[in-house]
Amino acid sequence: MNNYEFCVPTDIRFGKDQIECLDKEIKKYGKKILMVYGGGSIKRTGLYDKVYEVLKGFKIYELPGIEPNPKLSSVRKGAEMCKKYGIDVVLAIGGGSCIDASKHIACAAFYDKDPWDLVLDKKKVTKALPIFTVLTICATGSEMNPGAVISNEDTKEKLEINHPLLYPRLSVCDPTYLFTLPKRQTAAGTADIISHIFEQYFQPNDGAYITDRLSEAALKTCFKYGPIAIKEPQNYEARSNLMWTSSIALNHLLTFGKGGAWSVHPIEHELSAFYDITHGVGLAILTPAWMRYVLNSETVKRFAMFARNVWDLDRSDDYEAAIAGISLTEHFFIELGLPGTLSEIGIDDSKFELMASEAVRTSGLSTRAYVKLDTEDVVQIYRNCL
Ligand code: NZQ
Ligand code: ZN
Repeated sequence: MNNYEFCVPTDIRFGKDQIECLDKEIKKYGKKILMVYGGGSIKRTGLYDKVYEVLKGFKIYELPGIEPNPKLSSVRKGAEMCKKYGIDVVLAIGGGSCIDASKHIACAAFYDKDPWDLVLDKKKVTKALPIFTVLTICATGSEMNPGAVISNEDTKEKLEINHPLLYPRLSVCDPTYLFTLPKRQTAAGTADIISHIFEQYFQPNDGAYITDRLSEAALKTCFKYGPIAIKEPQNYEARSNLMWTSSIALNHLLTFGKGGAWSVHPIEHELSAFYDITHGVGLAILTPAWMRYVLNSETVKRFAMFARNVWDLDRSDDYEAAIAGISLTEHFFIELGLPGTLSEIGIDDSKFELMASEAVRTSGLSTRAYVKLDTEDVVQIYRNCL
């Protein structure tokens, strides 16, 4: 097992009515809150009113309108508000987009120049406001990790800023807040959770047996409860299992003792940067194509292990098992109601070269990925998704 550092300082408050803790916990840091939220779902669901009820004694400044695939312009606005009003705490109410924007705002509040500099060079992050989150969609794991993915609408770049100062101090994870999620968001979120697990599972093992078994349990949980959550949106057991799986899928637990660069995420981030598509939708389309592309004599054992341990396939031939496991995974995404090709979401081949070279340039795809991929490989994977 590789040497590994594991420190997750986020306080998770999981379950019904945990939001009540915010008053006591935020008070420790001050009275002025920047409340960051999205396009209005929290008003429709009643959560907005609940937050005001719980945080009666605080001065709340609002930054609404955070876009899915949060934009740099929103971060600039939030950072300005923090400086102008002397904000003590940034409170994200929503999903990965609101939480990621909040993380970037929290560190940009202490930076005098343009916040994009912090994405390009994390050494410039020196301080951050405390970040609290109330999660309303489970997908990214942002509620329990130090990463934030921000889109620069001018340059069409979608890049990650990752810094230990950006761990949320506390995240409220109440599965009942997921009851109102539309089917499409539940499906895309489930695909994102699954992809996070794959990105860490499909890496050389280096003896990290425990990490692989935990990953398989997390994958089985998604395959079991994703369809139930879509059919029965108010099924607490399904929502709660998916919610906790999303947090552990990307809090570094499932990469413990392993390593390597991710593969499908950098390829997808180009799609959402150029076409503003839903992250999980892009991942669901790309994942089976990536799997088939990297299946070879060196990787087949791991793909066969996935098929046997997660899909319970009993084929003795490794290639047959691997191919069947990939097909079941593809079928699963389609059964969730997700599109299976790029053509279905209106994407043609006109930007494949540009996106592929950006994906390779901005990631470890060609140097540290499970199977190293260069620009031509990535173009071919995009083509195979048409
Ligand atoms: O904006 P509102 O009106 O709130 O609607 C949102 C949004 O349209 C809606 N929604 C959320 N909770 C709801 C709800 N609708 C009804 N009821 C509820 N309870 O769902 C839509 C999607 O929300 P968003 O926050 O964009 O989803 P998600 O959590 O999937 O976040 C996606 C973003 O996170 C990045 C993605 O690239 C993308 O930009 N990622 C962040 C990561 C991280 N920080 O670690 C890792 C991921 O791999 C990912 O890249
Ligand atoms: Zn993701």
